[in-house]
Amino acid sequence: MSSATPLPQKFRYISLGSSCMSVVISAIFFLLLTLLYTQNCTQSFGLFNPIELKWSTSPDNNSTSPINFPTDISHIKFILVSSKKTWKSRKPYIEAWWRSNQTRGNIFFDSPPAKDLLPWPLSLPPFRVNEDVKKLSVHRKLVVPEAARIFRSVLETFRLGDNEKVRWYVMGDDDTLFLVHNLVEVLGKYDHTQYYYIGMTSEAIKSNFDFSFNMAYGGGGYALSYSLVEALAPTIDECIERYPHLRVSDQLLSSCLADLGVDLTIEKGFHQIDLHGDISGLLSSHTQSPLVSLHHLDGIDPLFPSKNRSESINHLMEAASFDQSRLLQQTICYHRPTNWTFSVSWGYSVLTYENIIPRSVLRNPLETFAPFKKSVRPPLYMFDTRLPSNDPCQTPRLFFLESVKNTERNQVLTTYSRTSEHNLPPCLSSGNHSADPITKIHVVLQATRRKQAAKVECCDVKYVGGANVAGIKLRPCMSGEVIA
Ligand SMILES: *[C@@H]1O[C@H](CO)[C@@H](O)[C@H](O)[C@H]1NC(C)=O
Ligand SMILES: *[C@@H]1O[C@H](CO)[C@@H](O)[C@H](O)[C@H]1NC(C)=O
Ligand SMILES: *[C@@H]1O[C@H](CO)[C@@H](O)[C@H](O)[C@H]1NC(C)=O
Ligand SMILES: *[C@@H]1O[C@H](CO)[C@@H](O)[C@H](O)[C@H]1NC(C)=O
Ligand SMILES: *[C@@H]1O[C@H](CO)[C@@H](O)[C@H](O)[C@H]1NC(C)=O
Ligand SMILES: *[C@@H]1O[C@H](CO)[C@@H](O)[C@H](O)[C@H]1NC(C)=O
Repeated sequence: MSSATPLPQKFRYISLGSSCMSVVISAIFFLLLTLLYTQNCTQSFGLFNPIELKWSTSPDNNSTSPINFPTDISHIKFILVSSKKTWKSRKPYIEAWWRSNQTRGNIFFDSPPAKDLLPWPLSLPPFRVNEDVKKLSVHRKLVVPEAARIFRSVLETFRLGDNEKVRWYVMGDDDTLFLVHNLVEVLGKYDHTQYYYIGMTSEAIKSNFDFSFNMAYGGGGYALSYSLVEALAPTIDECIERYPHLRVSDQLLSSCLADLGVDLTIEKGFHQIDLHGDISGLLSSHTQSPLVSLHHLDGIDPLFPSKNRSESINHLMEAASFDQSRLLQQTICYHRPTNWTFSVSWGYSVLTYENIIPRSVLRNPLETFAPFKKSVRPPLYMFDTRLPSNDPCQTPRLFFLESVKNTERNQVLTTYSRTSEHNLPPCLSSGNHSADPITKIHVVLQATRRKQAAKVECCDVKYVGGANVAGIKLRPCMSGEVIA
């Protein structure tokens, strides 16, 4: 998509100047909602939008008031960007996390959806068609008009006017999977009345080198505080005039914010996934922060070895529905009688080693994945990795999530089953204890509270010699407990 399609009149927002009297609701039969906004009224009308009723009963009706009420999902407005070309294959990723009665926001397109996509389902984010960037005087100088089109979704969202109680605008692509509860928790740490630009750089050194080390990657998603967007919105078009040569909307945003005096705040749970192939190594050693997003799901192998892409996402989201706070959080424990190590990535995988390996090593992902760009030379990644080897003392056996359920004792039981044979002899230096009999691992956790972000948990292993099931129980670490 190198140029935007002219916008039919019926898709334009109706701008009514400043008089309250002139509010007109234009009901267009196949649009889900038409929002009208006038500066004096500061009021929005959402037609057919059931979530709005729910929010109007909340006591915190002032989007710029200090944090008297904890941030919840109703305070977040998503700005999702798609295109005619990508939508059909990306729709399942949006469906996996969007909850139309809870999540607010819109999905922006370069041209109106084809007739076969209408009527637009209520289960999806309401669509908008971006304004035509050809109307900008700088248009002819734009090297990639698509970048300006996507960037202006921030301005167009703000102008829609349904900003009541919004604390955060969160940008994402049509192939971004959001873990919404974790997103709420992460943003809840920050004061939305201050200027905040929160996100994460790319995993790939090359991407950051090519674009910027100071930029949040929009595919991984990023958040802008309400007051920041309020300040940014009026400056967007003049800022695009300063940077017509920038090729990516994320570069435009980070440059415009830099000029407003705002730099990126890093949150490690946003994942651009500028990687290819099998990312199980990364997901099995996730950093200790809540998983907020995953991106580029088309460009990597299915997350689970025996499932296709959409089945894999749904499988992961099923675990998420039990406990998002622990999803992909790594917990390491040892079975001393056999010198075995178990590394749990909750809701996803367990890796077993026939050797005692300290956390300082296991927190580094196994480099199962390939670089985003084939031609690049090391160093490739922004984090430490471990190279896969054939050493029986260093090579794990892999178990992936099979099922998740509640037990009678108010515990969550996840079961992981072995997916591949491990044709290596036992590790001799740790005592020649083969872990080969184990084909399933049960992990139980007390379903009482969310995991505290950044606080590592510990576990204990229960194993009776020769059995094919090993049990693991998660628990808080004891004070001073050494994981090694
Ligand atoms: C919300 O708005 C109502 C009337 O518009 C006002 O009485 C109330 O104090 C407001 N609450 C907050 C928390 O701002
Ligand atoms: C909303 O917040 C602004 C800025 O803090 C304040 O000036 C205004 O009085 C508040 N309005 C209400 C209704 O609380
Ligand atoms: C949203 O909630 C309303 C009323 O509770 C319900 O009728 C509607 O089916 C819900 N929509 C979706 C997509 O779940
Ligand atoms: C994935 O597998 C499911 C169930 O077997 C199937 O319905 C779906 O069409 C598959 N999706 C793709 C993209 O192959
Ligand atoms: C565990 O490994 C150490 C060497 O790393 C060895 O000295 C010890 O005997 C082993 N323990 C068992 C129970 O095999
Ligand atoms: C390791 O254990 C296996 C099975 O118990 C045994 O056959 C083998 O001789 C052992 N190897 C060594 C070097 O002790």
